[in-house]
Amino acid sequence: MKYFLDSAKLDEIKLAYEQYGFDGVTTNPKHIMASGKPFMTAITDIANYVADKPDFPVSVEINPHLETADEMVEMATKISALSPNFVIKIPTNKQGIIAARRLEQAGIRTNMTLVFSPAQSIMPGKIGAKYVSPFVGWKEDYGDDGMNYVKDVVDIYRTYNFKTEIIVAAIRNAKQIQQAAIYGADIVTCSLAVYENSFYNPYTD
Ligand code: E4P
Repeated sequence: MKYFLDSAKLDEIKLAYEQYGFDGVTTNPKHIMASGKPFMTAITDIANYVADKPDFPVSVEINPHLETADEMVEMATKISALSPNFVIKIPTNKQGIIAARRLEQAGIRTNMTLVFSPAQSIMPGKIGAKYVSPFVGWKEDYGDDGMNYVKDVVDIYRTYNFKTEIIVAAIRNAKQIQQAAIYGADIVTCSLAVYENSFYNPYTD
């Protein structure tokens, strides 16, 4: 299982890569705001850091409020030009699917994000997105089951032999990391704090 860090803070990204040997990064507009830098500065700094790390993918999200596939493709193309490591996060809605398919056909890799059901997860696999990101925490915050549906997504992907890798996203605790691993998801992404809690046990101390 791969561990991606969900952050846009360069000090955290460096720690994750250099000290823990994590496998990649996911960012989103909220993380970029938390980095305290303007959008283009934050992602350019990350692009520079990963320039000599070809096996360290970084997902960068387009403005999720764009309404048309044309606008999404335009912004994704601009972001993607900054680094070969960048994988572009596109919301899984009608226009997003059209945009992601066009991007994949043009050789720009995509992470289809904001997935909340097994049905919604299927098109990203069919169009050959690099990643699909089913979200766990947002569902559980509102009392829904967040993990059982991830098992269904994994089963669907294995049944149809989709090559798209499944990133279990919006993980809030160590138990969710553990369940994602048991279900056979390819990747988890969460904050440094959640990972560090998962390494910890008071008995070990
Ligand atoms: C994943 O790609 C997302 O950036 C992330 O997991 C969103 O989670 P959060 O908004 O609940 O922190």
